[in-house]
Amino acid sequence: MSVFAGIDIGTSGIKVALIDADGTCLASAARPCAVDIPHPGWSQQDPDLWWTLTAEAFDELAAMRPDLTARLTGIGLSGQMLGQVLIDAADRPTTPCILWNDQRSLAECAELLDRVPDIGWRTNGQPDPGLTAPKLLWLAKHAPEALDRADMLMLPKDYVRLKLTGERASEVTDASGTQMMDCATGAWDDELVAAAGWDCARLPGLLLPADMAGQLRPELCGRWGTPSMVPVAAGCGDNYAGALGIGAARAGEAALSIGTSGVLSAVDSRFHPAPDRAILTTPHAVPGTFLSMGVVMSATQSLDWLGRLTDTPPAELARRAGERAQEGPLDRLPVARPAITGIRTPDNRPDAAGFVGGLTAGSSKADLAYAVLEGVAFQFFDCYSAQRAAGVPIDSVQAVGGGTRSVFWVSLIATLLDRPIAIPEGGDIAACLGAARLGQAATCPAEAGAILARKPPAAATVAPVTAWADALAERYGAFRRLPFTV
Ligand code: XUL
Repeated sequence: MSVFAGIDIGTSGIKVALIDADGTCLASAARPCAVDIPHPGWSQQDPDLWWTLTAEAFDELAAMRPDLTARLTGIGLSGQMLGQVLIDAADRPTTPCILWNDQRSLAECAELLDRVPDIGWRTNGQPDPGLTAPKLLWLAKHAPEALDRADMLMLPKDYVRLKLTGERASEVTDASGTQMMDCATGAWDDELVAAAGWDCARLPGLLLPADMAGQLRPELCGRWGTPSMVPVAAGCGDNYAGALGIGAARAGEAALSIGTSGVLSAVDSRFHPAPDRAILTTPHAVPGTFLSMGVVMSATQSLDWLGRLTDTPPAELARRAGERAQEGPLDRLPVARPAITGIRTPDNRPDAAGFVGGLTAGSSKADLAYAVLEGVAFQFFDCYSAQRAAGVPIDSVQAVGGGTRSVFWVSLIATLLDRPIAIPEGGDIAACLGAARLGQAATCPAEAGAILARKPPAAATVAPVTAWADALAERYGAFRRLPFTV
């Protein structure tokens, strides 16, 4: 039996899963990963922490299932996107990675747009502080020594792959988020690189996600008891991996990921950029297709925030929100836009704050929990509407990510989208499973198309709730009237 490993470098945790050749998960291990917030609006992590946690998770798997690691045949990676990892000549990070949800480089976005007015049509979208290029411009002003010492720029999962293999590389999906790659062609673009104040000599070569990027280092093979030659695939950004984990490989197939961020990732056969609606559009991990991403900046992060505030586990909040909706009526409940880290799709307001309207003396914790889940669902609906308006086909939707543990949350979204949403088996670790599929595809390229498009069985299909539809439509109007800033 062949075994493949998928590693997902998530924002709130690292996961490693082992799968068999049919895609069934055989074992998994996870480690939580904290985000540093040294100033309000900042969000950063130390790349070496990702590596320490990945190695620990692998150590755990090797101790728990040495029979599986002894058969390891391929490894693939998935990672949080858009962060800048700068490494020196000895492959050491020169500065913390500024994450995809960091808001510090707002002014630099305007500068970039001034330099390249049509940048949104050539790259994955309008300059946004989450993207890599504005971060480089910010570092040039505030930490120039970190740039001077940098020998290369790479993306988060590229750094972990470098630790696994000793090879420097990136690939087209993650490189799309730098705003230095032409998203229609999948090649670094000299003019865009110069506009970000960077130079092509300090960019890695670009592979395709299922290309072999190197072999597992001999000392790691020994540490984890693997065979001596284990190919490591280039891998891809986490949203592409989440789509691959459920076999979303053809135009019209979409993955709705409810994780720290929420992303509606829809496979498209054409490049449909829509910078005016802040949709990210890039090459997909399946050659010849594109992925359109509508992004809700804070999804489970909003619920976690309310959980911390009320000292209540998020799962408990979600359960009570569901009960509250069953009690009805919905029209007396508060309305929220819990955009605690700004808004990307469709309003492009990284400066936006979260808002709650309609509080009364009787408003309860359950009411607020409902409003937060609904507010995230409304933002998913905004993504869906914007993507369809941009011409992106969405024919089937499968929900993935930790937030799918709340079927109530998925049913709110299904009602707003007015279509059933399937929750596939293994959907809560879809990015890890997608990464493992890339590891498998790298070892047998002739079957890559079939491996990447394989669909997992649906664990549940969540239907729209007709009884909520009118009230939700009304409440959506109130949600859209909430202000963006104080
Ligand atoms: C997408 C995005 C996030 C991260 C989360 O643009 O920034 O979904 O990929 O890890």
